[in-house]
Amino acid sequence: MGTIEDVKERIDIVDLVSQYVALKKAGRGYTALCPFHSERTASFHVDPSRQTWHCFGACGTGGDIFRFIMKKDGVEFRDALHTLAERAGVALDQRRDPVEDAHRARLYEINEAAAAFFHSTLLTSDAARAYLDERRLADSSVERFQLGYAPNSWEALLQHLAARGFDAKDVRNAGLAVEGDRGAYDRFRHRLMFPIRDDRGRIAGFGGRMLPGDALGAGDVHAKYVNTAQSPIFDKGSLLYALDLAKDAIRAQGAVIVEGYMDAIAAHEHGFANVVASMGTALTERQVALLKRYTRSLTLALDADAAGSEATLRGVEVVAGAVDRESTPQVDWRGVIRQQETLAADIRVLTMPAGRDPDETIRAEPDRWRALVAEARPVLDHLFESAASRHDLSSPRERSDVAAQLLPLVAAVGDRVVQSHYLQRLARIVQVDEQTLRLDLRRARSAATPRRAASTGPGELDIPRVVNPVVHDAREEFCLALLFRYPELRAEGLDMTPELFGQSENRALFDAWIEWSDEGESFEASLTPDLRPQFERVVNLDLPSFDDDALVRALRSTIGRIEQQRLRLAKRASVAVISDLAVAGGAQIAERALAAWRSGGHDARGPADDEADLAAAFVEDMEAGLKVHQRVLEQRRGTGHPAR
Ligand code: CTP
Ligand code: MN
Repeated sequence: MGTIEDVKERIDIVDLVSQYVALKKAGRGYTALCPFHSERTASFHVDPSRQTWHCFGACGTGGDIFRFIMKKDGVEFRDALHTLAERAGVALDQRRDPVEDAHRARLYEINEAAAAFFHSTLLTSDAARAYLDERRLADSSVERFQLGYAPNSWEALLQHLAARGFDAKDVRNAGLAVEGDRGAYDRFRHRLMFPIRDDRGRIAGFGGRMLPGDALGAGDVHAKYVNTAQSPIFDKGSLLYALDLAKDAIRAQGAVIVEGYMDAIAAHEHGFANVVASMGTALTERQVALLKRYTRSLTLALDADAAGSEATLRGVEVVAGAVDRESTPQVDWRGVIRQQETLAADIRVLTMPAGRDPDETIRAEPDRWRALVAEARPVLDHLFESAASRHDLSSPRERSDVAAQLLPLVAAVGDRVVQSHYLQRLARIVQVDEQTLRLDLRRARSAATPRRAASTGPGELDIPRVVNPVVHDAREEFCLALLFRYPELRAEGLDMTPELFGQSENRALFDAWIEWSDEGESFEASLTPDLRPQFERVVNLDLPSFDDDALVRALRSTIGRIEQQRLRLAKRASVAVISDLAVAGGAQIAERALAAWRSGGHDARGPADDEADLAAAFVEDMEAGLKVHQRVLEQRRGTGHPAR
């Protein structure tokens, strides 16, 4: 049995959750006020038979014991596993895979050796030294960040490392060499090299900036920056440049996140030691989780274009994969806002003056930078202000644009009280009655949760059943088995949402599979040891044989079933909450809505017109299984805002 199972077997979800939340028995499970957002009605559920929890309110998420700790502590799966393993008395370290550890250790060694080599050649390169002068980099920064130069050669690094006992295969595994027709060649040629260290100071990879003059051609010669290829130790989205040097300052002052290497270096050179760089990609959840170990206060420095542009405002595109992009970084605001909720962080936006970047500003006017940091705005305020300033609010059409832009962002706010504040503000700006916006909001929110139409599957699938005290989700595992065993499903799989997986080990496997690039090592080899047992379980499941069509249908219909199952659970939980409320007093709308819903009709007529709307909305919500429409109840009980 694997570690994850050991831990699951020893920790009961009801025990665990009740340490943080006052659980009340309701039906087959337990309910409580959700610990992750403020609410008046209990929409948080624990299901002991499945060992899962779910918030049917604003969070709309759930999972198992690990996901509970991940969300509560704002940590990643591996950290949650650690915490719970300790609690369960399961020793994790015994289970480490020594072969894998040795492999990773070797990659770090190679990186150290490469950084020393690049650093030493800096002295020999006129082009690189001239460039550093031009950028006004202090010698002390060159040393501190161990900047270097990759010679304009096909094999300078490979040869240097070979002389130290590292063969081409190791160097390739470290992402520093590329396999060509005639053998391996250096990935970085004629570039300024930035070693990228993890929070513990180990070199995980490199960024290489182009320099004036021609580089030997192949691959990305013209890209401004080239990075180490993804490797078992290098994943850009899990690293923040300069974090190893910034940790203490971040603990004391909060973190400021800039985009570029040069920006971070300039900041440190001028004593702004709490600055890290996201390296061009929009901030990932993993990066925020890293920072959250030290602070809850994050300030994002954005250039004027990114901070103000409509494209960015609309930019709901996620960055996964956009590692070597050339264009202006896009910020995923919904993502940022959700992270703010999930991690209970205080996220602010610092807007750079047009045409300036932090590097130049810090070097030219350090006090200006200090002021910009001090004036950073809470993320939603920033978005409201920038939308309002870009539109003529006397025009109804433009007001409608503003509403369309901001509503999805307001919808992403998990905290009811905070959400209400911004909704009122939006209503004022766009001059629309708040109640109307509220109905739109509900729609925006369900649109934000992508759902798949349940496809017509190939009849009953032979989903393997598992009999085990540990709850395994057969459908989730079946999905994964299909993805892992049939490479032709890769494209289909990349479209799936990770939210589909309620069991943490399945979700972690899926995340790893999404991040894995099928060019290098096998998927199995890319996994950390703690996920291996579950991988083996899943990949060895007995699957019926499929032809191509049936394969895609099997995957889709399983996805449909997982979603249906989730809707059923949502309904069951809603019933428990609503009957509870009905007892608590006067919730006639809820009763009527519930009766209508139970009888299978969607018809909630009977009450006055505006009530009917709300009741219909209420029923719809239940139908969607998304959440209980607490607002209706609160208004009815006079605790919320009076209905007009
Ligand atoms: N980046 C990248 N790949 C690219 C472009 C950018 O990885 N093709 C990352 C780098 O980490 C870079 C950051 O995004 O530092 C910001 O990009 P950009 O603003 O273009 O570069 P600067 O850091 O400002 O570099 P410079 O000042 O030298 O132009
Ligand atoms: Mn720059």
